[in-house]
Amino acid sequence: MIPTLEWTADGVRFLDQTKLPLEETYVLATSYEQVADVITTMVVRGAPAIGVSAAMGVALGIKQSRAADLTALKADFEKIAKTLAATRPTAVNLFWAIDRMRVLFLKLVEQPGATHASISEALVREAQTMYEEDIAACKAMGAHGADLLPEEGGVLTHCNAGALATCGYGTALGVIRTAVEHGRQIHVYADETRPFLQGARLTAWELMHDGIPTTVICDNMAASLMRQGKIRAVVVGADRIAANGDVANKIGTYNVAILAKEHGIPFYVAAPWSTIDLATPTGEAIPIEQRAAVEVTHHAGKQLTPHGVGIENPAFDVTPAKYVAAIITERGVLRAPYAESLAGLEAQMA
Ligand code: MRU
Repeated sequence: MIPTLEWTADGVRFLDQTKLPLEETYVLATSYEQVADVITTMVVRGAPAIGVSAAMGVALGIKQSRAADLTALKADFEKIAKTLAATRPTAVNLFWAIDRMRVLFLKLVEQPGATHASISEALVREAQTMYEEDIAACKAMGAHGADLLPEEGGVLTHCNAGALATCGYGTALGVIRTAVEHGRQIHVYADETRPFLQGARLTAWELMHDGIPTTVICDNMAASLMRQGKIRAVVVGADRIAANGDVANKIGTYNVAILAKEHGIPFYVAAPWSTIDLATPTGEAIPIEQRAAVEVTHHAGKQLTPHGVGIENPAFDVTPAKYVAAIITERGVLRAPYAESLAGLEAQMA
């Protein structure tokens, strides 16, 4: 299993995704501020991995707190939560994870006999449970979604929604992994995913690690390959899915969805339930992270664009629900109309 992130006695250990594929190095975050920095700088990235990293950041911050009593510990919790919540705004898993830790923390603080040590231990256990649940959710997504993929042929994915974007196995890549485990002859086409190159660097690296046939294409090649019949299905991950089924994912996902529609190719989204945000009615209300211009102007330290040129760098876009053939979750496969299928499954699980 690819060790994306891990709780250790000394802090949270992250595989440094900014260095892949050429270097396999690790970063040990020994404070919650460092965990926040690791999320912001994308040493760790991908919505589910961001969520569990934040939960571990909370656990680490509480463990290290010097609060004199539980009232002061409550204030520390909010300081830690605020720092972690300010890292990346689009991935709803970040806020889901912090909220889950807060609900438990507030319950623990009220318990008779609660101590800083007992609360801290319970929070570490909760973060570790979230880690295990994330892997289990990915495996369940794989089991639910694998049969949607073709028996053989090309499957396009955008960005990295794999083991590196989760605690292991992956969402979109988890579906591909299970399909391959079931004997489907799939060839993955990985969009390079400008500007951060998650497809070229990360998806290609992890699929090659597993021996799954993979070809990297530049983002602007997808239409041409679809027209040639090389792509039989598209499967991507998500950072947030609104109540009506609109999907925020890596910038360029929307382009792929339109192209898939034009070519009659099914466009699937695989995401855990922690990515579904029923409190956000449509994609228009999803906050889109804007990242630094330097990610576009430079590559590997080399300037690509003229000094002073205008730059846009939205990290995500929103694909309207009408382009989505199915949403694959650990609870099952959902079909349109998503407002009904999402709310229905949520009510059923409550
Ligand atoms: O900016 P990133 O690399 O964090 O963006 C990641 C994506 O867009 C993924 O597709 C999404 O988070 C789902 S990961 C299972």
